[in-house]
Amino acid sequence: MMFPQACIISVFAFIASALAVTHTVIVGNSNGDTIYTPPFLNADPGDTLVFQFQQKNHSVVQSSFRDPCTFNGGINSGFFPVPADKTSDFPTFSVPVKDRFPLWFYCAQNANLPNSHCGAGMVFAANPGNRFPAFKTRALAVGARLRAAAGNPSQTPTAPGVRHTIVVGNRNGDTIYTPETVDANPGDELVFQFQQKNHSAVQSSFEDPCTFRGGFNSGFFPVPPGQSDNFQTFTVPVKDRNPIWVYCAQNAGLANSHCGAGMVFAANPGFRFGAFKAKALAVGARLRLRPSPTAAAPGATHTVVVGNGNGDTIYTPPFLDAEVGDKVLFVFQQKNHSVVQSSFGDPCTFNGGFNSGL
Ligand SMILES: *[C@@H]1O[C@H](CO)[C@@H](O)[C@H](O)[C@H]1NC(C)=O
Ligand SMILES: *[C@@H]1O[C@H](CO)[C@@H](O)[C@H](O)[C@H]1NC(C)=O
Ligand SMILES: *[C@@H]1O[C@H](CO)[C@@H](O)[C@H](O)[C@H]1NC(C)=O
Repeated sequence: MMFPQACIISVFAFIASALAVTHTVIVGNSNGDTIYTPPFLNADPGDTLVFQFQQKNHSVVQSSFRDPCTFNGGINSGFFPVPADKTSDFPTFSVPVKDRFPLWFYCAQNANLPNSHCGAGMVFAANPGNRFPAFKTRALAVGARLRAAAGNPSQTPTAPGVRHTIVVGNRNGDTIYTPETVDANPGDELVFQFQQKNHSAVQSSFEDPCTFRGGFNSGFFPVPPGQSDNFQTFTVPVKDRNPIWVYCAQNAGLANSHCGAGMVFAANPGFRFGAFKAKALAVGARLRLRPSPTAAAPGATHTVVVGNGNGDTIYTPPFLDAEVGDKVLFVFQQKNHSVVQSSFGDPCTFNGGFNSGL
């Protein structure tokens, strides 16, 4: 007997949601150990990781296999201080699992100090495959390096506590941060002082200068043309020597994007600020090339034909460039094809993302 396709899909959707699992991970414990329990687990798309914070003052911060103790710009729970006498109602932080790719996490307490929690091996992973031991070994190596550096006065950071003022915009209405870069140490602060126009200071990444992917976001500070003092500020504490990439999100995605006009800033960029700003300007050039870039304009729709009248096993076009907000519309022609998400590493294996069905 044949069932209508819509009926089969809804049955599968029901099964998938019924099987979604909540995985509880205890962060720390009543002995004050720097530990996640369990240290790793496997989770399916639709599952949820619930981190339950127990004693001490821990966090859950996303990193990468390569750099276990460095924030990768993804998830960051912030710190949850839990008093020694607390025995119930522990605070929690939830992370939805979207696919079967590994998620790497660490505790950012005392980051880059000899008593770094991550450097003591306080790391966690979802779907690590067989790589969790290697990940933890890398975290412990970070700790060993930090303790070695602390024993070597020549590598001790300079006295902390410098406030670096960065003027955002100016009386001429320029789209500029002044200065465009600073060199900052752990314990320093970045103080963004908002002058004329309506700017913001939003954290991004070297790869995507004009895209917020978590981190800090000052919001917008409109400043009238006549104002000459009492400018509002937004302060960002500097926790380590890693680069901090920043842009102004005014008119984001539009031809007159401030970021796309080169309004970017970086703390500790090393020698990469020039390349970062060039990438921002390239975003602006792309935005100006797009037809009728108005705020209300919806994303473009890219049509991809699946198969064809000759019964070829082909997508036309075979690849394309798309912007955030665009849609890819697959139009099914002859034969019985599907569109299933996979990964670069395993082109013919479903990665848990979307699946059009046949
Ligand atoms: C928790 O740790 C963070 C980061 O080290 C610190 O800023 C905060 O003051 C701590 N909170 C308490 C209550 O100890
Ligand atoms: C400042 O910019 C934001 C974002 O474009 C906008 O929503 C807001 O209305 C602006 N405020 C003023 C006073 O222009
Ligand atoms: C389409 O392909 C699927 C998978 O091979 C098969 O189960 C289904 O019966 C096919 N439908 C038709 C109408 O041929």
